[in-house]
Amino acid sequence: MTRPLFPLFQSHIDLAHAYWERIVLPGDSVIDATCGNGHDTLLLAKIALQEGALGKVIAIDTQQKAIETTKERLFNHLTEQQFKSVDFRHQSHESFPSEIRPGTIKLITYNLGYLPNGDKTITTKTSTTIQSIENALNLICEGGAISITCYPGHPEGLLEEQALFHFVTNLQPQEWSCCHHRWLNRSKSPSLLLLQKLRTTFAS
Ligand SMILES: C[S@@+](CC[C@H](N)C(=O)[O-])C[C@H]1O[C@@H](n2cnc3c(N)ncnc32)[C@H](O)[C@@H]1O
Repeated sequence: MTRPLFPLFQSHIDLAHAYWERIVLPGDSVIDATCGNGHDTLLLAKIALQEGALGKVIAIDTQQKAIETTKERLFNHLTEQQFKSVDFRHQSHESFPSEIRPGTIKLITYNLGYLPNGDKTITTKTSTTIQSIENALNLICEGGAISITCYPGHPEGLLEEQALFHFVTNLQPQEWSCCHHRWLNRSKSPSLLLLQKLRTTFAS
């Protein structure tokens, strides 16, 4: 669907996707830590796995229904080869698959909250989200990023966003560049947190 150019970004999701398209290159390894209905995983897969690139996509969700929906969406929109490069994990993102080496992942995305059109009581939780992001920091390569869309419009989402602010504010500025995007004139609107790992090594 072609979207009108004004306003520039219609939602936090549009904005997040625009950043992902700048950060992720064909051949990169990426993780969708909350794959839900698979829309975000599909976009990541189309970039990281385009034109036969040897990238890797990991899609994680605690709900079997979400894993099945994501699988179906990707199966219908990717080539067989691309689909084979997606690793589906029915688990909590609190920990990541142990075979992932530190500093090898370009982007980890979190779209917090509950599955749209699903059970609203199954939502991301502050303690597990913070634990996951602590672990994610170690996996990101230089120049890579963590993208988190927050939903402060519901009580658990507000607590989660506040805890994330507290956590992110304390990250070393020499190592992490962190910014937050919010629509100021839209009450309780979702927001986007981006943490980019700075380059600490330079070619001589
Ligand atoms: C807003 S939805 C994600 C939407 C998805 N990115 C998409 O494109 O459709 C949030 C998802 O997070 C999942 N979730 C909640 N807690 C989780 C956890 N601890 N680990 C992994 N996934 C979790 C929920 O099951 C839900 O599917």
